[in-house]
Amino acid sequence: MTKPYLFITRKLPDEVVDPFREHLDITMWDSKEEAVKPERLLKEAKQADGLLTMLSDSIHEDVLRQAENLKVVANLAVGFDNIDIEAAKKHNITVTNTPDVLTETTADLTFGLLMATARRMMEAAAFVKEGEWKHWSPLLMAGSDIHHKTIGIVGMGRIGEAVAKRARGFDMNVLYYNRTRKQEVEDKLGVEYVSFDHLINKADFVVSLVPLTEETEKLFNEVVFNKMKREAIFINVSRGKVMDEKALFHAITSGEIKGAGLDVFEEEPISATHPLLSLNEVVCLPHIGSASRETRYNMMKLSLDNVLNVLQGKDPSTPVN
Ligand code: DGY
Repeated sequence: MTKPYLFITRKLPDEVVDPFREHLDITMWDSKEEAVKPERLLKEAKQADGLLTMLSDSIHEDVLRQAENLKVVANLAVGFDNIDIEAAKKHNITVTNTPDVLTETTADLTFGLLMATARRMMEAAAFVKEGEWKHWSPLLMAGSDIHHKTIGIVGMGRIGEAVAKRARGFDMNVLYYNRTRKQEVEDKLGVEYVSFDHLINKADFVVSLVPLTEETEKLFNEVVFNKMKREAIFINVSRGKVMDEKALFHAITSGEIKGAGLDVFEEEPISATHPLLSLNEVVCLPHIGSASRETRYNMMKLSLDNVLNVLQGKDPSTPVN
């Protein structure tokens, strides 16, 4: 009997993939770093039973429409804005993602980025490495406090809750805004549900953890940055397109807000000549929210399990649609 065919859009470690070869005929794109070429993706989609995709692959209607055998797209991310979910539904294709396994790791990075930005860690480390450190002085690289400040979490999903837990450990006052109120999180962590405007006005740290949807596109724009405190630091670890980068650059350079920690960008990878990268007040990371070795391996295994389950007629553990 022929095995179902799975195409993986990146070269993943053999030790994770090989155990699945008993049940699946698997081909991988041959680069660990570079994204699969759209022509190859389309060619593979037309013949595959399953696709294991990266968040940087665009899986739009045109691909799904031509993918006659395709039954499952397993996205190696919790976010799935790179996949046309409506089109997948229309063509009876199951889409899965990787929630839960990356929650704590992404919350660690979020809090680390907040700390690095507030306490100017990247700037200070570069200062030492470049031989600029000549004297100790009272206000050398003095940043902003984190403890006992107010953090405003926009998007109280699993990662939001894990960030709130860390913030409470730093004795922070935690405000959150979410489409639905989360009473159990409030009871457990002592966080306060407020309106979006209230959060934006009051928070010292505004943390974006919202998924990218039509509603959240450019949610953090000129008007919103303008309402933030002058000392506010904006942290974005969700998706770049939920913010307006030009407006953010303007808000920081004109002193409307203090700085930003960004793990995601409107276009990824961000160009090395992008104006935001010229600012000391901005810490930029290459979309590594869930990038610990352990978590990335768990995400790969979960995605492969999801593919196998769907192709064996079982329910995947983390379906999106
Ligand atoms: C995700 O899983 O959506 C994250 O952005 C990856 O770091």
